[in-house]
Amino acid sequence: MTTKKLYIETVGCQMNVLDSEMVVASLRKRGYELTDSTRDADTILFNTCSVRQHAEDKIYSALGRVRSEKKRDPSKIIGVMGCMAQKDQHQIFKKAPYVDLIVGPGQLQQVPDLIEKAAVEGGQHSALSLERTAGSVNKIKRSHETFDPLRDPTMRPTPFQAYLRIQIGCDKFCTYCIVPMTRGPEQGRVPGQIYDEAKILADQGCKEITLLGQTVNSYKHVDGDQTTDMTSLLELLHDIDGIERIKFVTNYPKDMTTRLLKAIHTLPKVSPYLHVPAQSGSNDVLKRMKRGYTIEDYRDMMSRINEHLPEAAVSSDFIVGFCGETEEEFQATVELVKECRFKNSFIFKYSERPGTRAAGNLVDDISDEVKKRRNNELLAVQTQISEEDNQPFIGQTVQVLVEGPSKKNDRIEKSASGLMQLTGRTHDDRIVVFEGNQRLIGEIIPIGIYECTAFTLIGTVITEEVGPTQLVGLSV
Ligand code: 5AD
Ligand code: SF4
Repeated sequence: MTTKKLYIETVGCQMNVLDSEMVVASLRKRGYELTDSTRDADTILFNTCSVRQHAEDKIYSALGRVRSEKKRDPSKIIGVMGCMAQKDQHQIFKKAPYVDLIVGPGQLQQVPDLIEKAAVEGGQHSALSLERTAGSVNKIKRSHETFDPLRDPTMRPTPFQAYLRIQIGCDKFCTYCIVPMTRGPEQGRVPGQIYDEAKILADQGCKEITLLGQTVNSYKHVDGDQTTDMTSLLELLHDIDGIERIKFVTNYPKDMTTRLLKAIHTLPKVSPYLHVPAQSGSNDVLKRMKRGYTIEDYRDMMSRINEHLPEAAVSSDFIVGFCGETEEEFQATVELVKECRFKNSFIFKYSERPGTRAAGNLVDDISDEVKKRRNNELLAVQTQISEEDNQPFIGQTVQVLVEGPSKKNDRIEKSASGLMQLTGRTHDDRIVVFEGNQRLIGEIIPIGIYECTAFTLIGTVITEEVGPTQLVGLSV
């Protein structure tokens, strides 16, 4: 088999990172090797995102950059896959006629064959799932296939951390969101398959798995009279030797049951970290977003978290400047952030997505200037809370899964003592930076925290504890 070179660029969410891993694994089977240069590549793939306009703009400019390379070498195959491929199937070939392949996120298993077809026959090829209005639910579901058994350890966040999809699609239809259109109806994967895949990951040396779903805690799989929900799935996966941490994102507030919270509390491997996007603090905005809950429901969930899982770190997403958002409605969001004191929040300016209900029925009437101002204001409030939330860790010891060199020394600059700046995360998803030896990477080790910022805990490796508060930090 001759070796071919693949260049792949991924934007967007963890789902896309996982999809790219699968595509790379399937192409390695056909003799491909990765390259980080588009110039050297035989095939160039872009795995795309449609959640915000900005993500799409990035891809169109990346496509612009490879145009001349295709001109120079017409045998190069250029493919667009992922959410933007599904959503803009017709426009992409028009806007970038030198693209050879368009493959939706539910059809990625076809990528290797389509590349071969394009190479042999020439011409443009596409594989897309059915649109949500294109027939019976079952038919549409079948057109959005999961593509999970193939794994490629080199494409993971680290060799000991992996994503594992448990659910595809989404049925919530929040009015601003394109995901239900691009990734199709919600489907929970078969629990036995998830279990087998987790075991394979553990055998490959993964210590941490992150279960993925758009509304992951709504996970449900029905087989005859046996229903598996998120709680029972966590219990099932908890038994796997080698897996030490189980995380899951993203959660939907209405499906955060007390049963699930109690299970997270009693299962030590399950991370006490809950990412549960609130999106807005105003009931009227939530209604326009069709989020399916009120602020009172969200508060009730927070108080149940505090009661049953008090050790949890909670984070959220917010959209500012959604259609018709008044200053008063925005202030309600600020108040919610102050009240809930999230570990961190991801804040986004509303970006109208053609094909969504908001684009059809509501007016994107908040100026970009106001969106920007609200974004900055909310971020400032959250940043102060994040810093205050990290303060109590000073003087404490936390267990950290060491992920690798911190960004500051990507070049792996070692100090004279052989130490380097390392980064890792606590069980509740806080980033920790400390000095240590490279061989600590992949280990879960105790770190004594002596300083913090809003985003990071700063500490030293603990090799010996003297008394309850006095920490001796010896770098190993
Ligand atoms: N505009 C801005 N942000 C959006 N999100 C989803 N759709 C949009 C949109 N049209 C945000 C939500 C979601 C996160 C992944 O992206 O906050 O939780
Ligand atoms: Fe989009 Fe709402 Fe589904 Fe999340 S729950 S993917 S925001 S439609």
